[in-house]
Amino acid sequence: MSLPIKIPVIYHGVGALDQLKNFKENRILIVTDKTISKLYGAQLLSYFEKKEVKIFDEVEPDPKDTAVIKGGDVARKFKPELIIGIGGGSAMDAAKAAYFLYGQQSLKLYDMNVMIEYNLKEKSKLVLIPTTSGTGSEHTPGLVVTNTQTGQKVSLASFELIPSAVILDPTLALRMPQKLTVATGLDALTQAIESATSKMVSDFTQALNLYAIKTLFEYLPKAAGEDAGDIKVRAKVHNAASMAGIAFGNSGLGLAHSCGHALGGAFHIPHGITVGVMLPYVIEFNKPECKDKYVEILECLNITGVKDPTAKLSSMVKDILKKLKTPLSIKELSVSENDWKQNFEKLVNWTKGDIITMINPRMASEEHIKKIFQYAYEGRVIDF
Ligand SMILES: [Fe+2]
Repeated sequence: MSLPIKIPVIYHGVGALDQLKNFKENRILIVTDKTISKLYGAQLLSYFEKKEVKIFDEVEPDPKDTAVIKGGDVARKFKPELIIGIGGGSAMDAAKAAYFLYGQQSLKLYDMNVMIEYNLKEKSKLVLIPTTSGTGSEHTPGLVVTNTQTGQKVSLASFELIPSAVILDPTLALRMPQKLTVATGLDALTQAIESATSKMVSDFTQALNLYAIKTLFEYLPKAAGEDAGDIKVRAKVHNAASMAGIAFGNSGLGLAHSCGHALGGAFHIPHGITVGVMLPYVIEFNKPECKDKYVEILECLNITGVKDPTAKLSSMVKDILKKLKTPLSIKELSVSENDWKQNFEKLVNWTKGDIITMINPRMASEEHIKKIFQYAYEGRVIDF
């Protein structure tokens, strides 16, 4: 099956946010969180003078299904012509959910099915604006919510959630604190590497993956370090993260993400940190299926002729984790032995049941998942 690659109109560069004043719609719903609302609320409203604007700013990190459904209720009442999601992945995911619930009034959030056509654009338009550089949610058909019944992070998807326009203004990224720069940047790097090693990768997505990987290795430590205030550095990371978003939205991800989702749900650790910590172990586990792809990645980083490309790529990821002062094992994420044992079965079951596990390049059995988690907890090199 060949799926078409869908890319929204992308406005990018310093000042790209000003494009909002050119949108013609008159009823506008802005979905965001309290921090972004405080930082940019007045600026956003200034673009829409004489128009009806409502700001829903109750989105929180790792959004709960209840909050996301509330955003949908607001949309159903307000009847917007344009829904704008501005913020990190959580705000953009909540905007996608509101767009779905508004576009299909009789459906519930968990009814969303990637195989069904909904004609969502008949009701309103969706525009997404990332203020962090990492999740790539502005380009993907998916969203992640926390199920309040089980605590599990659940992935939902519809290709109609890819917005009609994306605005990439690096000045928004300048306001990110260092920790957020690290967590979201590691998410972007993990996404680019998992997408580059996916079985569904194509020439189009690989071009984006490889450029994103090269750019993130070079510029992420700078953006998280002494060049945090350099708009050119921020723009590089902001654009690379979004490119990785386009790529993995089409090529898919792998076990670092399904394991990361489970870790995030169980221990409430930021998404980018969980997937970043898992990445070297997953690179090592995927060795039998991905050796050639690792050579391709290393070549784009100008590294050739290495004896063991898997070990080299894994160690390069560990080096960047160290540079970004991020732990190299789950234990170092302050997960006690006791918490680990108590949550272990749940982690394995959640990972097994995550749809992303099914598309990992190397088939992972329950036994494999258990061993990967245990090795990652202890910080051991994968040898199976
Ligand atoms: Fe991610």
